[in-house]
Amino acid sequence: MSIRIVQITDAHLFKDPQGVLAGVRTWKTFTAVLKQVERYHADFDYLILTGDLAQDEELETYRMLREVLGDWLERCRILPGNHDDRAHLRKVFPELFPENDDPLTFTLSSEGWKIIGLDSQKTGEVRGRIDARQMEWLRDQLKMDPSSRTLLFLHHPPVAIRVDWLDNIGLEGAQDLVELIEASPQIEAVCAGHVHQEFEGRIGSAAVYTTPSTCVQFGARNEKSFDTKTAGYRILQLDVNCRTQVHRLSDD
Ligand SMILES: [Fe+2]
Ligand SMILES: [Fe+2]
Repeated sequence: MSIRIVQITDAHLFKDPQGVLAGVRTWKTFTAVLKQVERYHADFDYLILTGDLAQDEELETYRMLREVLGDWLERCRILPGNHDDRAHLRKVFPELFPENDDPLTFTLSSEGWKIIGLDSQKTGEVRGRIDARQMEWLRDQLKMDPSSRTLLFLHHPPVAIRVDWLDNIGLEGAQDLVELIEASPQIEAVCAGHVHQEFEGRIGSAAVYTTPSTCVQFGARNEKSFDTKTAGYRILQLDVNCRTQVHRLSDD
């Protein structure tokens, strides 16, 4: 038995279906990604959306997202990015988020694996942060299941991806999280979005992955640039270890 996860990130949707971000009609590429997932990976166990879902952060945009996710929703988990509104997420996805002031986190346990979602949104800012309360919660989660192989998901990558302008809007105070990951050998991988490009790094024994956006792709240059690669998503296959691959539109 194994677990198959689809990670989709940085959809940057608008309530206007024709809405454009940096020349890309974001609904068009997002729905093309969903179609490709449906065609090739519809047997996924979980679809994890790692934030920046609504560029305009409008309630209606989240309602439209819910509509297109349809009956996949029960296999979906959602994390906020800097372009998201927590109150709207709670309102539109009440089955995923309780009515309280807690960060929008999740945990899943299956087949000896534990999957933890972290909320790295720092309200009103592009940069992210995992605050002390959430760090405490994460410590408890890791202590609770020290023998489960573990994956972490969050919007902002906790390491520099060596692209200056994006590293400047990364995760504040990442050192605490990095130290916890280093001290937690059960963490096999950390999966993030935010940087709109594929990157692989390491923290101790854990792999760090970032995943292409479903819309605009950024270039791997120190100043802001765009890349002509097509929209993408990530598949993770968990059994005795974690295997993963990025797929892009029309290359399957
Ligand atoms: Fe983004
Ligand atoms: Fe972001």
